[in-house]
Formats: sequence, C-alpha cells, structure tokens
Amino acid sequence: MSKFTRRDFLKTGVGAGAAAFVPVGLGRAAALTAAADARPRVVSSGNGIRATQKAMEIIKAGGDPLDAVIAGVNIVEDDPDDMSVGYGGLPNEDGVVELDSSVMYGPTHTAGAVAALRNIKNPSKVARLVMERTDHVLLVGEGALKFARAHGFKEEDLLTEKSRAAWLRWKETMSDRDNWFPPKSDNVPEELRSVMSTHGTINCIALDAAGILAGVTTTSGLSWKLSGRVGDSPIIGAGLYVDNEIGAAGSTGRGEANLQTCASFRIVDFMGHGLSPEQACLKTCEAIAVKTKLVPRLCDGEGRPKFGLNFYALNKKGEFGAACLYEGGTYAVHDGVENKLRDAAYLFKRREKIR
Ligand code: GLY
Repeated sequence: MSKFTRRDFLKTGVGAGAAAFVPVGLGRAAALTAAADARPRVVSSGNGIRATQKAMEIIKAGGDPLDAVIAGVNIVEDDPDDMSVGYGGLPNEDGVVELDSSVMYGPTHTAGAVAALRNIKNPSKVARLVMERTDHVLLVGEGALKFARAHGFKEEDLLTEKSRAAWLRWKETMSDRDNWFPPKSDNVPEELRSVMSTHGTINCIALDAAGILAGVTTTSGLSWKLSGRVGDSPIIGAGLYVDNEIGAAGSTGRGEANLQTCASFRIVDFMGHGLSPEQACLKTCEAIAVKTKLVPRLCDGEGRPKFGLNFYALNKKGEFGAACLYEGGTYAVHDGVENKLRDAAYLFKRREKIR
C-alpha cells in the first residue's frame, strides 16, 4: 500500500480544497474539480487492456490508485510475449535487457524512477520504492540494481529464447561488412520479422472516486539501443506526469522526441489551461511535428516525422483521451463500467511504414 492514504489526503485538506488550489508559477486558468459522476477511471496504452482491468478491480475494492496501476502493468512486465516491457523485452545492442520505469503519485506530488536497470523484471516496483524509501527521484544502472538487491528483488536473466533469437537476427542481418552472418536458409518466423525495431512501452494512469491520481510508465525501451541509452519512460515530465489538481499524462513511442519536448508535462499543463485530454495530446503531437522538421533525417519526403509517438491523458474530471502522430493507434480505458480499446486521435494519415 502507498504510505499516503486516502484518509491522509482528505485530512490534509489537499483533496478537499483541490478546486480552490491553483499551483503558482504555471499560469493555469483553474484547477479542475473532481469527476462529476465520481466514477474511477483507468487509462493505458493499447497493450494495456489487462492492466486497466486489474487496476480497476483494485480501485473498486478500495485500493490506492498507485497500487492499482503498478499491479496492472506488472501483468505486462511479467509476460514473456510482450517484447517491449519487462521480462522478454527486446535487449540493447549487446543482447542485454535494460529496463526503464517511473511512477508518480498525485496527492504528494512525488515521483520515483529507475533507468537502464538490468536483471529485475518489475522496474515499476523498484521505481515506487525509489519514491517511497529514498530522498531521490531517479536511480540508474548499477546503482538502481544495488538498490533493488537491497530491497530483496530477485535477479534473473530477462532474455527469453524469443527475444534472444530476435536480437541475433538483428545482429546477423544488420550489415554485410561485419563478421556476423545470417543462417543460409532464412526461415525466420513472421513474429520475429515484425519485432525488428520497436519503441514499445506501457503507460497506465488512474483516477479514483476520491480524486486521487497516479501513474506509471514501464519499458524495455528502444530495441538494439546503445548500452546505457535512457528513453522518456523514466523521466518525469516526459514519459509520465501527474498533477493532482489537473490530471495525468503518459507516453509510448520514440522517447528521444519526447525527451526533447517534455510532452507529458505539456499535456497536463495544456489541460490546466482548459484543453480536453484529447486536445492536449493532439496539440503536443503538433508541437513535436514542428520541431521534428528541424532535423531532416527524421522526416519523410513531406516533412512528417518518420517515427511513432503516442500520448494518453486523463483529467481530474474523469475525461480521458489519447492521440498519436499517425492514425491507427488504440488505447485502453476502463471508465468504471466497461473496459475496452478505443481509437486514438491522430495528426497524420499513415502512408508509409514508420520506424
Ligand atoms: N518510449 C520508450 C522509449 O523510447 O524508450
């Protein structure tokens, strides 16, 4: 359980006075009031339909939203068949899985994160302990692993046979000017062909009936990355941001583009200025498309980004939305009544394969 209980939240007056409290320095129009129907909500990326279901069950049973979203994404972290998160995630260029994750808790406005964490399949649980059991926000690499060991996490090889085979195929087919050769008969299963390069991730954000917001993002990051590369997922304000007076946002897709635009912070700030979650996500997509034009290698012939990036948002009123750079994205929502995948808004129609 989170240290900060629902009772604490109401007792401090932070929750009770939320509608009257506008954080200074952000120029917000107004803090939003809690959901009129007081129904909880859970929003996740398109690979998160099991996470939204699990998180909602926990919230409806009286659990804390942070416990709920972490338990939700743990299902995907533990799943060897999801090759973008946790166990079975695609490795770096050396064939080593390095995981990134962050959590943020609205009532205390506190966050925790780990980056380039090896051998621990639930980085979201470690990120939560960074938030609750240290005076820090982000631990990386060997330091993050030492911290996880200190808390009794079990070390294991996160590479599955499938993710090792995918990595080896990438290694052997990357260039004909090195010493690695692909097998003579190239009978590669279709499932391995389709995972040759990914930015997959899971984000999950939730609001309970008392107005508590929380979120988590967790990933194995860009496949075949340089060792030590850190994406947007563990960076507060990029892959995740929660402001308990306004809303929460998270991201999946090309982390580098997000890191250079602080997208999740922007989305929450836009919501604070009155934009709907979907409008806030779309406006952030537009900003990224404009900045990407400054880097020709990242643009197609029409000046559009050659990569995918997706945003998910939930405001204090319980409104939610998502937007992607390209059409075809989905996101998972449990609105307190039903749990289903929905179509995300998008900036561009898809005309060619993107990275
Ligand atoms: N958004 C995941 C990553 O780029 O690492």
